[in-house]
Amino acid sequence: MTTFASGKEYWAHVDLEKVPNMKVAAPGPKSKAMHERCTTYFKGLSGQVKLFPVAFESGSGCVLRDVDGNEYIDFSSGIYVTTLGHCHPKVTEAIQKAAGTLQNAHDFTTPIKTQLVEKLAEILPGDLSGFQFYDSGTTAVEAGQRVLRAATGKHEMISCFYDYHGKTYGGVSLGHIRSTVYGPTRAPGFHMVPRPDTYRPMWTKADGTIDTDKYIEFYEEYLDKGTAGQVAGFVLEPIQGWGGSVMPPDDFFPKMRKLCDKHGILLMIDEVLTSMARTGKYLCMEHWDVVPDIVTLGKGFGNGFPVTCVAVREPYKESFESISASSSYGGNPMACAAALASIEVIEDENLNERSTHLGELALKRMAKMKAEHPIVGDVRAKGCLMGIELVKDKATKEPLEAAGAIVYRKAFAKGLAWIPAGHILRMSPPVVMEDEVLLKGLDMIDEAIGETEKELGM
Ligand SMILES: Cc1ncc(COP(=O)(O)O)c(C=O)c1O
Repeated sequence: MTTFASGKEYWAHVDLEKVPNMKVAAPGPKSKAMHERCTTYFKGLSGQVKLFPVAFESGSGCVLRDVDGNEYIDFSSGIYVTTLGHCHPKVTEAIQKAAGTLQNAHDFTTPIKTQLVEKLAEILPGDLSGFQFYDSGTTAVEAGQRVLRAATGKHEMISCFYDYHGKTYGGVSLGHIRSTVYGPTRAPGFHMVPRPDTYRPMWTKADGTIDTDKYIEFYEEYLDKGTAGQVAGFVLEPIQGWGGSVMPPDDFFPKMRKLCDKHGILLMIDEVLTSMARTGKYLCMEHWDVVPDIVTLGKGFGNGFPVTCVAVREPYKESFESISASSSYGGNPMACAAALASIEVIEDENLNERSTHLGELALKRMAKMKAEHPIVGDVRAKGCLMGIELVKDKATKEPLEAAGAIVYRKAFAKGLAWIPAGHILRMSPPVVMEDEVLLKGLDMIDEAIGETEKELGM
């Protein structure tokens, strides 16, 4: 234990003399053997695993341990999930207690669920006060879509290029279609429009900065001419996670709120990835003072326990009644205990502030990388949601696709567990990370980028 910025005893201390600790070159022999056994039967791996097939045994705070005894600094939080670090003692204790008390009572009222909904109504902005719980981000997005339809009596939905909202038909219909190959990739009534990306703007003002108004004008035109006039809602990520930590301009969501209000369309925001301290707020939308009509919460919501949520504003609460909202696991006592304990930890340990601080520190450090490395085109962070975009040429911004996987592997081999995404490097460290550990991880990325430049002759 060490003392944290708030002056409290801090559980997630990492001794940088000892971690990262690569006892054998990774993936080591035990990892390789176990991976081979497992993948004889377990199929369909993500790029994260395929590019670095290591077998993890345990995790504590900001450290992951593989079966060969190698210890890694964690810049992945699983996949944006364990925001409070691995096995936070308070979350673990709450789940253990619930597991020994009552594991499932369908959607009957329980004491822990009552506490959780009251807590959510207290911490979420505006009149977001109607809740239902699910077991994955995808099922929450599906339920959110049903609420959208029930609340408006309309069926069309609009999302943005490069969005990701899960892998069921409804989720895929809202997403970047090449990410998942099904038969017909998008259900009827789903539309996609360009999204303002400050690094790669489609429309700019005379001074070269992004012109958000042009996007909004295009959406108005599209509503009129590209849809059947039956649009229930826009469904948007606040920051695109899978798209590569893509930040919107600050005026985008306030303008979207106005656009939706003007046209009687609901604003559904998918905060599965961005909620619960990941960006330094409970909801990322709080950065722009915008209250969505419907919002999905996931990943860090239960800090690893599969629990997600659809939250709606007061006028839409009754719409849950007409969508057959309940599910087998949604809101079970263990899930509610994990979510409630996670919120309490965020409150008690001031983790929204901590996440904001880490994001600012990372931005400063990454700005240095941008200045020094010819292939670093852009760096971004909001709280502990971070990205580095690799380009062939800073002027043309042409993506350097080949480099992402190389940098990922090199840094992983040094002892940094993280997330690949083509030419955009993505980082989601636990928000409980100490400054020195964050900086150490960024140093490892910096080194890996330098080595990659040499290898590619850049
Ligand atoms: C914005 C967003 N929505 C939905 C999902 C799907 O969540 P899950 O994988 O828990 O089904 C994800 C997963 O990455 C996501 O990032």
